[in-house]
Amino acid sequence: MATFGPEYFQALPIFGVGVGINPSDLHADYLADSPGRIDYFEITAPSARHLGGPTGYAEIRHRRNARSKGFVAMKIPEVAGEKRVLVHSTNINPVYPDPPTAGDLAELAELVEVTRTPWITEDLGVWLMSERHVYPHFMPFPLTDATLVVTAGNVREVQERLGVAFNAEFPPTTLVAGDMHAFDFFAELTRETGCGMCFDVGHVLSYQIARGAAPTSDFHRLPWPYITEIHVAGGGIDLREDGYHYDDTHGDQPIISVCLDMLDEVVRNAPNLRAITLEVFGAKIPARALARIAEIRARPAVAAWLAGTR
Ligand SMILES: [Fe+2]
Repeated sequence: MATFGPEYFQALPIFGVGVGINPSDLHADYLADSPGRIDYFEITAPSARHLGGPTGYAEIRHRRNARSKGFVAMKIPEVAGEKRVLVHSTNINPVYPDPPTAGDLAELAELVEVTRTPWITEDLGVWLMSERHVYPHFMPFPLTDATLVVTAGNVREVQERLGVAFNAEFPPTTLVAGDMHAFDFFAELTRETGCGMCFDVGHVLSYQIARGAAPTSDFHRLPWPYITEIHVAGGGIDLREDGYHYDDTHGDQPIISVCLDMLDEVVRNAPNLRAITLEVFGAKIPARALARIAEIRARPAVAAWLAGTR
């Protein structure tokens, strides 16, 4: 049985600063630039569930982008032939009681083989209901002991079947359900299964805002040696009828300063951090994303991490 956890993550190379995209977001300027500012591409594997039935969001995005200049249609194996690719999935759905299907895992196993990704990143959340994908509005899961047991079982099975680590991403959280602290949930899940944690700064900020806490509150409860990856993206904080919310808009929007402060904090404290991904789903202006990546690389904490002098 494969074992994961801090030693596995420590043995991996530092992948650097990359871009997180759906296949439909791929632009020739990103491909031409790397290596340079873009060290890798984290690509979201389109779900088999988008291939049938009503037009899926991925297809709609692709059709929109097809009208824009410079966007290229390439599948993950093609990109992996030229660039380093990490895989983000949408099919594991590990907090849901039904384990992932053999078909979903077979697709992911192929991507693991062709990309040699060391992990499969996916947000913890309910992505699927019956046969339908509910993303981008996937539902918050109850933070409870029972959910933890279900999730750990599914994560163990996925890791066993794929032979690489699962990388549990902290999900967007506008609503807190359950009686466990989310950081304790991730700490117990990672320690029980050896899976990694992807720290999405905007998602964590949304949780802190939802529970009325400061952005870095309770960071001592995080499973630091298991944090492998940071996600960062454009977004904003908005005041609505029921209070403040973080809007995880991705795309071309600027990154708000509190997210960059949180990123620095994680870079300084996560000993096995291996990748920082700027997510640009739906971005239309590649020059802006490239400039943003250069800015992230130039931050003193990130530069020290890249240089191995942290
Ligand atoms: Fe993310």
